[in-house]
Amino acid sequence: MAVNMDIILAEWRARSLAEYRSAALGAEFLAWLLRQGFASDTLQLAQRFVANELDHADMSFEIYAELGGDDDPTSIQEGTLVIPHGFGGSCIERTVLACLDLYCIGETLATPLFTAMADATTESGPRQLLERIVADSETQGALGWAVLAELMERDSKLVTRLAKEQLPNYLSRVERAWGLLPEDWIEPVGPGELRYGLIPRARYKREFYQCIAEEVLPRLDASKLPGRPSWGKRPKNKT
Ligand SMILES: [Fe+2]
Repeated sequence: MAVNMDIILAEWRARSLAEYRSAALGAEFLAWLLRQGFASDTLQLAQRFVANELDHADMSFEIYAELGGDDDPTSIQEGTLVIPHGFGGSCIERTVLACLDLYCIGETLATPLFTAMADATTESGPRQLLERIVADSETQGALGWAVLAELMERDSKLVTRLAKEQLPNYLSRVERAWGLLPEDWIEPVGPGELRYGLIPRARYKREFYQCIAEEVLPRLDASKLPGRPSWGKRPKNKT
């Protein structure tokens, strides 16, 4: 079976950097939670989140190197390794924004995508890592919602105001990343690439809309935030 190693390598390079970045941002988020005296259980959850991301990053870099990648992971741009949300704002405001975007939306969407990637993966390195990521997904997905519940107890007015302002933008951005399939898209991922843990854009799209409808929006609504209304108000993306 013909396999396009270039796209496999590019994908694993991107995933390695994404896992490392997630560890760095998670560590910054943990420091904010510590500074604000969050509940011990929440701090422990955040610490486990960071440890898991570091493991995912190590395993991803190993896969990338085994596939023939030769960049040095330490060449990652330092500027990409900080939480950009609400820069210059108060610690609680920044925590709310990062919590909603990176953890409630981002990590909740990640779970079905990684599960889909694990589905047809037969190569041992990618398979081991994807199984580990799927096994960790309960912890990784729980962090945002645990922090959000505590933020709501502390200052529900502030959280609600920031959510109303920013959720439509955050939802629009993830739709652009995962939900869109350009009409002239020529899919490079076939059965050979599936074995290495890649999935086609059509699969991203399907998993994305299902998770938004069944997980993200209902959970935001259940947290007394405008999930469904924000989805309706999101800036429209062009395909
Ligand atoms: Fe991860």
